[in-house]
Amino acid sequence: MGDPLGDRPRLGAALRQAAAAAEDYLAGIDGSPAAPPGIDAAATAFGDLELPETGAGSERALTELIEAGIPAATRSAGPRFFHFVTGGGTPAALAADWLASTLDQNSFSWVSSPLGSRLERVAVGWLKQLFDLPSSWGAVLTTGATMANFTALAAARRWWALEQGHDVDELGWAGLPPLPVLATPHVHTSAVKALTMLGAGRRNVRRLEPDDLEASLRALGGRPAVVIATAGEVNGGGFDPVAKMAEIAHRHHAWLHVDGAFGLFARVSTLARELAEGVDRADSVIADGHKWLNVPYDCGFAFVRDPELMHGTFRLTGAPYLPLGSDERPSFGDRGPEASRRARAIAVWATLRAYGRTGYRDMVDRHIALARRVGEQVEAAADLELLAPVRLNVICFRFRPPGYREADLDELNRRLGAAVLADGRVYFGTTVYRGVVAFRPAISNWRTTAEDADLIVEVARELGSRLLARA
Ligand SMILES: Cc1ncc(COP(=O)(O)O)c(C=O)c1O
Repeated sequence: MGDPLGDRPRLGAALRQAAAAAEDYLAGIDGSPAAPPGIDAAATAFGDLELPETGAGSERALTELIEAGIPAATRSAGPRFFHFVTGGGTPAALAADWLASTLDQNSFSWVSSPLGSRLERVAVGWLKQLFDLPSSWGAVLTTGATMANFTALAAARRWWALEQGHDVDELGWAGLPPLPVLATPHVHTSAVKALTMLGAGRRNVRRLEPDDLEASLRALGGRPAVVIATAGEVNGGGFDPVAKMAEIAHRHHAWLHVDGAFGLFARVSTLARELAEGVDRADSVIADGHKWLNVPYDCGFAFVRDPELMHGTFRLTGAPYLPLGSDERPSFGDRGPEASRRARAIAVWATLRAYGRTGYRDMVDRHIALARRVGEQVEAAADLELLAPVRLNVICFRFRPPGYREADLDELNRRLGAAVLADGRVYFGTTVYRGVVAFRPAISNWRTTAEDADLIVEVARELGSRLLARA
């Protein structure tokens, strides 16, 4: 097979081949191990490093992908993948995402895609309602929380420079002092990465306890600054006191940015809403779509109180062939880092249309209840130790058999972490929490039930006792 034009007659068959494989795969995913046996070997063996001179055609390529590629995939779309904070794709989101690829819209502007532009406007409006954020805020879809942090912090940087009479987007950093960034110990590495990409410098991020925020801002003597709060810390599930931080930040001439990659969903719940109280008083806030909204990778959202500030960095200038947007016909390519952009709004719109506010409330509440249940199981087990209270959907714990030497616990938990990943029935890795090696499974997949969540403690204890028996 050469020129893809020759493959045109097979297009329908290729789509049916992919649909049949997807249906089959998903039909078996609920009971499957989160990592199928032999996954590493399958990944290493798959894919020739040499570019083929002659193409094999779509049927052969898809057959190889299905037969040799799928065994190399973690079942991260399934209910037992508790590593990182990983959502799946709801039925509506997944099917709509297929359509997004089929329609292949460039969601830069109304002219490139009226559908993409309109649906993004509707979708970000619905998201603001879901999270109870003011409708006047600016918003844009991004590839994830990292780029949403980048987008929101670019607006913060613009504000900070304008407060000093300087247009950083036109003139660059020259002549400006370092950007003072005050964050709490909860700050996620991706917010720091975003600041690094913005040229603010990793080392300029100061970490301090929320109780020390006021004194540190006062010491700046009224000079503008950026404060970062985290709603939902990835290891222990902690929340910064956002409402209090907003009040302090605004009293001292600072911008408050909230990273709520998954924790913003507390505002959707009835069980834990108070954790994210005050987010609507921030200047910018972000969350992920591919985590708790359960749309397929990749998707995130950035919200900024003053929509105008989003254009400073991201408006494409000096290209007369690119149309300007309006409120009615927005150009989202002017509000975020990418110019050409996937129509992520299609999946976001579809899942919110399919399940509505109530559906998301029920799902988030179900996950919180499951996380609390696992937390109780950990507390009831003599050989496990809960390291942080379960606030939302993260359960932070370690294996601690009675009488085991404290100094050897980190090594034991590291070995147990490797054993959990190798076993594959459930999937979660280790982290370091308050100086000790710990596990931090997070529940955020729409498919997860009590039966799946109960495996966390069951597998950890079973593999833990096996390690002890071998020692
Ligand atoms: C609080 C927080 N911020 C940002 C991120 C980065 O998200 P992404 O990988 O979607 O860029 C994460 C990921 O877990 C997170 O927990």
